[in-house]
Amino acid sequence: MWNEYFRDKVVVIGGGAMGIGAASSEGFARAEAITYITDVADSVGEELADRLRGEGLRVHFRHCDVSSEREVESVFDEISATAGVPDVVHANAAIEWVKDVRHTTFEEWHRVLSVNLDGLFLFGRRALLGMCERGSGAIVVTSSPHATATVPDAGAYAASKGAAHALVHAMALEGAAYDVRVNGIVPGTIDTPMVRREAQAAKDPALQLQRMAATHPLGRLGQSEEVANVALFLASPLASFVTGALYAVDGGLMAGLPSGPPLKYNNDELT
Ligand SMILES: NC(=O)c1ccc[n+]([C@@H]2O[C@H](COP(=O)([O-])OP(=O)(O)OC[C@H]3O[C@@H](n4cnc5c(N)ncnc54)[C@H](O)[C@@H]3O)[C@@H](O)[C@H]2O)c1
Repeated sequence: MWNEYFRDKVVVIGGGAMGIGAASSEGFARAEAITYITDVADSVGEELADRLRGEGLRVHFRHCDVSSEREVESVFDEISATAGVPDVVHANAAIEWVKDVRHTTFEEWHRVLSVNLDGLFLFGRRALLGMCERGSGAIVVTSSPHATATVPDAGAYAASKGAAHALVHAMALEGAAYDVRVNGIVPGTIDTPMVRREAQAAKDPALQLQRMAATHPLGRLGQSEEVANVALFLASPLASFVTGALYAVDGGLMAGLPSGPPLKYNNDELT
């Protein structure tokens, strides 16, 4: 279904080796895009690219730490020179941080911000420059519900994602005059290596995963492919009038407030 939109297009995914990024890489590759998986997890990324190439798809892996200006510039230079300015960029890389503000060191704070926010800035800036010059393109950013409502032990991560929401808006406004669309995805809890790591920190990881699932009105964790599907939609011409949007892919998570027992008026008393 996606092939007619992405065949021969150049797509770059930041943090594309695992989890949501891997599903996005696979989605674009299967849509016959010339797909560049970039990541710091070299062996996992190479393996994914090899597997997809084995199916006859045009997939490449490139090492790229999104927090390094030199590495981001060099990967975009190489791709632009060989395949052309990317048509789609999915800025997806981030690291989680489970610690309250009081116990987060300045170094830890900087590490989270450098990957999650500097990385988004570096990827987004380079994508915008090429796309605006050409006059077309789509950027998709993986953000998080922590941008708007968080938990007590995720200060640095939440701050990075709040800033990501703001940068989606700023980049969307900047790209609009050049027909470059920029949108964010706001996933609920998705069953990825990141979430499995977080669950491992609990006494009973399986129970922790169940608890996470239960907070979603749909009653389960999301799958990476369910997020990737929305990335493909937002990058495609089907979303041609969508820019500056933050799309929830969260099983209803952010639609509700944490509640106690059901509150109900006795209708008889109201009449
Ligand atoms: N899984 C969830 O429940 C969830 C929920 C909301 C938002 N998100 C966001 O979705 C995105 C993907 O999360 P995930 O759960 O798939 O994570 P993950 O840890 O499973 O995968 C992240 C990928 O990014 C790569 N990466 C990490 N640091 C990098 C760096 N400096 N440069 C390049 N690549 C790097 C990792 O190697 C990995 O391949 C992140 O932006 C995350 O904040 C995830």
